[in-house]
Amino acid sequence: MPVIGQSPQYSEQPLLEVRHLDVRFTTPEGEVKAVDDLEFSLVRGETLGVVGESGSGKTQVAHAMLGLLAENGRATGSVRFAGEEILNLPAKRLNRIRGAGMALVFQDPMTSLNPYLRIGPQLSEALMAHEPVSGRQAREAACSMLDAVHLAHPRACLRAYPHELSGGMRQRVMIAMALICRPRVLIADEPSTALDATVQARILELLSELKREFELAMLLITHDLGVVAGTCDRVLIMYGGRTMEEAAVDDIFYRSQHPYTRGLLGALPRLDAAGVSRMAAIPGQPPSLLEPQPGCPFEKRCDYRFEPCKHQRPPLENVSAGHRKACHHEKLP
Ligand SMILES: Nc1ncnc2c1ncn2[C@@H]1O[C@H](COP(=O)(O)OP(=O)(O)OP(=O)(O)O)[C@@H](O)[C@H]1O
Ligand SMILES: [Mg+2]
Repeated sequence: MPVIGQSPQYSEQPLLEVRHLDVRFTTPEGEVKAVDDLEFSLVRGETLGVVGESGSGKTQVAHAMLGLLAENGRATGSVRFAGEEILNLPAKRLNRIRGAGMALVFQDPMTSLNPYLRIGPQLSEALMAHEPVSGRQAREAACSMLDAVHLAHPRACLRAYPHELSGGMRQRVMIAMALICRPRVLIADEPSTALDATVQARILELLSELKREFELAMLLITHDLGVVAGTCDRVLIMYGGRTMEEAAVDDIFYRSQHPYTRGLLGALPRLDAAGVSRMAAIPGQPPSLLEPQPGCPFEKRCDYRFEPCKHQRPPLENVSAGHRKACHHEKLP
């Protein structure tokens, strides 16, 4: 007999569903459209990588979902978390979802760690703001969370100030802070960018481990396609605020159908015959978000451009099951 709550239909209900998400900023120079008609969903236990160059809108997607846009920004569209519409909810209701529902590991640890407070009280406060626990229980939870993110001396770390920790340790503290309320979705914004390669690999390993342990769904934001290979199930490639391609990670690496994705793949460091790593970055500049062009945002930098690319916006269309791309070419060679 099927057990309620374990049927396949139940497990495939998206935990997070984003539809027609736009983010606009009002600036003295005009309106900046940072996110343009974005759509994706995330099911329990799944990791979606959001990949794009600097300025492509990745961070603003996360901030819009959690009600963290700057004052001059506004978001429209729909973001449903566990079936509930959460876009532009009043701060009080969003606060309940931030933390225990969805938590964010910020791009820059120092923006969300208070430099004047020891780590312990910062972690305890994050928990006490959401759950009715005593100070003592919160301190214990903070300590065990630092242990879960493999900080070697959790008790000493609780007494430390942020500046006394290395970059990698601070990032682990940030992850502990995000997880302390046991969220169902973790959004990690460039969790390893500022770190050297070895520390970066360890942070990614840690995220994969925690994802299994805490049964998290994860949105992993990065400008580095190399990062998603070992960590993500699916990948969404963003450019100029729009989705260029979305597919299972293997389809992105082996069957990509978008010139921009191909360009990012070509820019990945690799070992050549002499054993030296080299990169070929995509030439040209990202598009202006102030005066969006009518056609494809990647047109000016695209080796495959032809007439329609200049004038018509390519719709996001299915390539195969679970694989979509926004490109006028039916099939790339
Ligand atoms: N408060 C703001 N006012 C005006 N424009 C903004 C504001 N915040 C962000 N933007 C613009 O929105 C665009 C997208 O920014 P976003 O931070 O999402 O990029 P990103 O993909 O996260 O880049 P990075 O990899 O550098 O973190 C950028 O062009 C940025 O300049
Ligand atoms: Mg960013």
